[in-house]
Amino acid sequence: MATGRQGRPKATILPGERMRMDLSITIAGVKFPSCFMNASGALCMTREELLALGRSRSGAIVTKSMTVEPRDGNPEPRYYGFPGGSINSMGLPNLGYRAYAELIPELKQFGKPVIASIAGLCEDDFLTMARVINQARPDLIEVNLSCPNIPGKPQIAYDAADAERLLKRVRPLITVPMGVKLPPYFDPAHHAVMAEVIGRGHVDYLNLINSVGNGLVIDPTRDRPVIKPKGGFGGLGGALIKPVALANVRAFWKLLGGRVPIIGTGGVVQGLDAYEHVLCGASAVQVGTVLVEEGVGVFERLERELAAELNARGPRSLEATRGKLQEL
Ligand code: DHB
Repeated sequence: MATGRQGRPKATILPGERMRMDLSITIAGVKFPSCFMNASGALCMTREELLALGRSRSGAIVTKSMTVEPRDGNPEPRYYGFPGGSINSMGLPNLGYRAYAELIPELKQFGKPVIASIAGLCEDDFLTMARVINQARPDLIEVNLSCPNIPGKPQIAYDAADAERLLKRVRPLITVPMGVKLPPYFDPAHHAVMAEVIGRGHVDYLNLINSVGNGLVIDPTRDRPVIKPKGGFGGLGGALIKPVALANVRAFWKLLGGRVPIIGTGGVVQGLDAYEHVLCGASAVQVGTVLVEEGVGVFERLERELAAELNARGPRSLEATRGKLQEL
């Protein structure tokens, strides 16, 4: 096997070569035609954006996190991309759950899973949305416990007791597979507590991680932050958060014994990043920043690059790679 500069297998893509590699995956009994899909928040708010995801090679259509009432979100500028990643404080702009409930049947016609992301502003909001969205029959419902951008509303999943109480109330209302999107944790003690909450919560999959909350990016030529809301504080995404995302995927994979499938989100820019998420235990990966920067054509590039990485290692299947990170 050819090895690259750092001794890792070199993934070469010859011009015109087709990498035959099965990148489909299954989560909670739901088949995804590709392991790559959009992260909630990236090009998935409007009907047009969701239809474009349907027509693209995205392995699923993930909706923008919805709230009970439609929202315009925070004042602009509220997203900023830079070479290392991105910062956003969108403030949950979305069409409101009734609109997404109506859209779901249309989105299902693309023959790929539809994941409806719900984000209440209070506990009862989650219950209200869960009842109606469940009736619209998305393939999966993702309970977002980790929005960092609403002034005065802390991320629910940073309080284990709040998170557990909410999951206990919402779970009985959802009859499709239910996932939970968590924020990053930075201490093994927090991983352990939350893994227990998830273990008791009848959670069908985990999505790790939401943006790294409340970073600050400054434009030094103007002595001011690059985004307006919350004094410039916002969620970080993109390449710079990959190590945090990988650590969270790995920690939860180990603590849960690989029994709860994980969607790895954070820092996936190239096929190799996705390979690393899978090594840590991810079944699928989502892309946010790079999707916003590149558009829906990114899925084809990522598939090609991941196939090349897998082919350079054997070929090795996704399943044979999952969780197989070696430890020193
Ligand atoms: C927003 C950001 C998030 O990270 C999230 O999980 C939900 C919403 C937002 O600002 O719109």
